[in-house]
Amino acid sequence: MGRDVIIACDFNSKEEVIAFLGKFKDEKPFVKIGMELFYAEGPEIVRTIKGMGHKIFLDLKLHDIPNTVKKAMAVLSGLDVDMCNVHAAGTRGMMQAAIEGLTRADGTRPLLIAVTQLTSTSEEVMQKELWIEKPIDETVMHYAKNTMEAGLDGVVCSPLEAGKVHEVCGEKFLTITPGVRFADGDVGDQKRVTTPAKARELGSDYIVVGRPITQAEDPVAAYRRCVEEFVG
Ligand code: C5P
Repeated sequence: MGRDVIIACDFNSKEEVIAFLGKFKDEKPFVKIGMELFYAEGPEIVRTIKGMGHKIFLDLKLHDIPNTVKKAMAVLSGLDVDMCNVHAAGTRGMMQAAIEGLTRADGTRPLLIAVTQLTSTSEEVMQKELWIEKPIDETVMHYAKNTMEAGLDGVVCSPLEAGKVHEVCGEKFLTITPGVRFADGDVGDQKRVTTPAKARELGSDYIVVGRPITQAEDPVAAYRRCVEEFVG
């Protein structure tokens, strides 16, 4: 799969997300559905959006015992999502079980990526509260390596970490990167941001873009601008 732009559809109702996606007449963007929408609307929202022709990254960040994750992943695979994710902190065993659960009878499966350390966790909290004593950047790279060794396809990270992740885990290991803003846009609550063009230069495979597209006056134009800058 090549580079692509994934729109973070952080809406909390079916009506809002359908109205938003209805604006796209000529293209079918890859969309990310998160916990809020999934828990509000249930699996039917995935079937509906899939039925409209979109690819779906279902961002539910599973983290439980391997057997539970395996069974839950089998359900998500049956929903025909294109990408889903787990927490790398769940262990390599859990990640391997996730792949087993995702793999369909014909050998195909959705892409599976892992979250390393959430960007909301500071190094101080990680060390003092979670008792993970290593520096946060080393922890992130170590979790990325665990993810690769478990056979997953990639990790969520900052575009600023994409190069290092590829160095450690190989060029084919995918980097899915949020924290993207247009050069002339609002940063909002994101701390370290890059433009779509910069994310491409840094080696991101997929950018996840929410508000710069969903809150734009013309979301279709904003999406096209992202694609132009990132995919070319
Ligand atoms: O609106 P915005 O472009 O900031 O949305 C980014 C999306 O990526 C949101 O759905 C957010 O939850 C997600 N995300 C993030 N940073 C991470 C992991 C996920 O912004 N480290």
